Amino acid sequence: MSRIPFIAGNWKMNLTVKEAREFAKEVATKVPAASSVESAICAPATHLEALVELTKGSELAIGAENCHFEKSGAFTGETSPYVLNDLGVKYVILGHSERREYFGETDELINKKTIAAFENGLVPIVCCGETLEEYEAGKAVEVITSQLRVDLAGLTKEQAEKLVVAYEPIWAIGTGKSADSSTAEACCQLVRETVCGLYDETTAQAVRIQYGGSVKPTNIKEYMACEDIDGALIGGASLKEDSFKELIMATK
Ligand code: PGA
Repeated sequence: MSRIPFIAGNWKMNLTVKEAREFAKEVATKVPAASSVESAICAPATHLEALVELTKGSELAIGAENCHFEKSGAFTGETSPYVLNDLGVKYVILGHSERREYFGETDELINKKTIAAFENGLVPIVCCGETLEEYEAGKAVEVITSQLRVDLAGLTKEQAEKLVVAYEPIWAIGTGKSADSSTAEACCQLVRETVCGLYDETTAQAVRIQYGGSVKPTNIKEYMACEDIDGALIGGASLKEDSFKELIMATK
């Protein structure tokens, strides 16, 4: 099955809205058709409205970095998945390791958010991955499979087919120390096998799996050459117009 490659930037808590506007003006008209490679920028909630406006009619999609699992209510400081969809946002990153580590997000919570994302018309990019300690203790397989079993619980087969999973070893995020492509491929293959175990082979073949962790224009081709890696979730290297464009072009 041929899956369309998917390159997504994760801006985290970076750039001003003014800088985001300049980025969108520069990049939106230069990305290739989403039928050959899909591209998205996932940005802070404060930036989304401007980004959606400026990328309207272009091939660059916009994503959020988090959302709540309820549509509305007394949840001070949270972002509604319903409103994100209403705004024209397409993707939402869920369960990023920084949310797990600094904001105490559990797999149970990530699961509620994943279901809510689908119910509100968003496509979740569900992140999984092991710490350095777990990696060195040979526990990566156990960690990844147990995260996904909970994160994806209760999704229908139709939803699971549309899902994006980002495998991001925590020791490779923002460290400049990327996983070598054979390790990244082995873990992305494991993600696919886990989805196959939860659903079936057709679903597993439809799911798009990204590698994330210090991906740059200089190493992206190695990852994209791997059978089970369909794209990348990119932090640092997605913040500059030129390197983001290079990452997409290298994938085409
Ligand atoms: P990085 O971040 O590319 O800066 O390592 C990746 C991520 O956190 O998604």
